[in-house]
Amino acid sequence: MDKFYIKGGLKLDGEAEVYSAKNAVLALLAASILTDEQVVIHKCPKINDVYSMTKILQSLGCVVEWQNDSIVINSSQADKHEIPQKYGQEIRSSIFMLGSILARFKKAKAVFPGGCDIGLRPIDLHIKGLKELNVEVKEQGANVFCNGENARGKKIHLDFPSVGATENIMLASTTIKGKTTICNAAKEPEIVCLQDMLNKMGAKVSGAGTSIIEIEGVKKLHGVEFVPISDRIVAGTYIIAAAMTKGRVYLKNCRPNDLCALTSKLNGVACDILSSNDSILVKGYEKPQSIMTIETSPYPGFPTDLQAQALALQTVSQGTSVVVENIFETRFKHVGELAKMGAQIVVKDRYAIVRGVPALYGCDVYSHDLRGGAALVLAGLVAQGYTTVHNVRHIDRGYFKLEEALASLGANVKRIQ
Ligand code: EPZ
Repeated sequence: MDKFYIKGGLKLDGEAEVYSAKNAVLALLAASILTDEQVVIHKCPKINDVYSMTKILQSLGCVVEWQNDSIVINSSQADKHEIPQKYGQEIRSSIFMLGSILARFKKAKAVFPGGCDIGLRPIDLHIKGLKELNVEVKEQGANVFCNGENARGKKIHLDFPSVGATENIMLASTTIKGKTTICNAAKEPEIVCLQDMLNKMGAKVSGAGTSIIEIEGVKKLHGVEFVPISDRIVAGTYIIAAAMTKGRVYLKNCRPNDLCALTSKLNGVACDILSSNDSILVKGYEKPQSIMTIETSPYPGFPTDLQAQALALQTVSQGTSVVVENIFETRFKHVGELAKMGAQIVVKDRYAIVRGVPALYGCDVYSHDLRGGAALVLAGLVAQGYTTVHNVRHIDRGYFKLEEALASLGANVKRIQ
């Protein structure tokens, strides 16, 4: 079981290029089965969640191969509509394969999905949306059986702007008769990215990025070659790392507009942030001040996927901060590990009160989920002495060789067995 062995106290200094967004690529891979023509997705990160998704596509009969950092999918021979349990239970994104398999084969079987252990993560909004499209849905234990023979477009209202449910309904609606309208849709940049690729494949989708998305069903979708958006959460993680280590990091191939909720909080408080249209320069302060409140909410609010990393920054900032996690029920598992390092944090339900301390101290810590694990790595970068972060497999799901990326910026991070 891999671990990261980190010597703290070094400032990050250098430049890094941000690769394509995990949560965009996973949705695009799901979309690739909508056509029997070739789909090429460029600049894909070689991370475990992407590998899991390609295994699902292969289990359906798709031919999938990597050409450098491009994934080439040919699903002309795809003839299965059932997602194998062993893969479906690995990742959350397996559930929105339901929509794309239904759109292609008119029937589909999935299992209750896996993913980070950060809350209950029900799929009721996915199921309700598909039923609204007149898809017959039967849940038997962990299995979900769908029959979309009589599916047709409909106006659907989501009780919550769920990213996955929005993507599932978009994918399912691409080739069914009639018009589908999703009200209270998620507005994340990854949804806009999915709309862009679907439209390049011949779909008729509009409104992504707003709370109303419209999909006109079309008969057939064709192949496409596509470059996804870059990963705002990876970029945000680097920005916070630069601020925590009081360093200087220049990020290329990023999208500053996707990160306003983070940069508007940090700029002038914990670091200076200078943005151009596709790059961000971060210069850390010797004495970063605490951010009074960090409250996660759906995009364009503060992203829940940066909560853990931002909380880690608060543990070594001057003052006291209140962090509120509104999206997931149990996304504070990194707090106990940070406390082992000397952080002063009190958690009550969805609230964490963080009092900054002069220093953290290296020790053995255990990551419980992807972004919480990343937060522990950031804490290790600034802690006195050595920190060993265990269960790195969680981190490898969403960061491509994080240890090498940080080492190239001057950190002392090694992957050990
Ligand atoms: C996506 O998960 C992302 N994953 C998550 O990123 C991200 O944290 C989340 O969106 C929110 O931005 C992928 O895109 C693969 P949701 P998803 O449906 O779709 C509740 C990471 O670290 N809900 O928007 O599962 C749910 O429990 C991961 O990269 C229902 O109640 O998120 C949660 O409280 C972690 N019923 C809230 O909505 C449903 O049917 C938001 O979930 C679906 C969701």
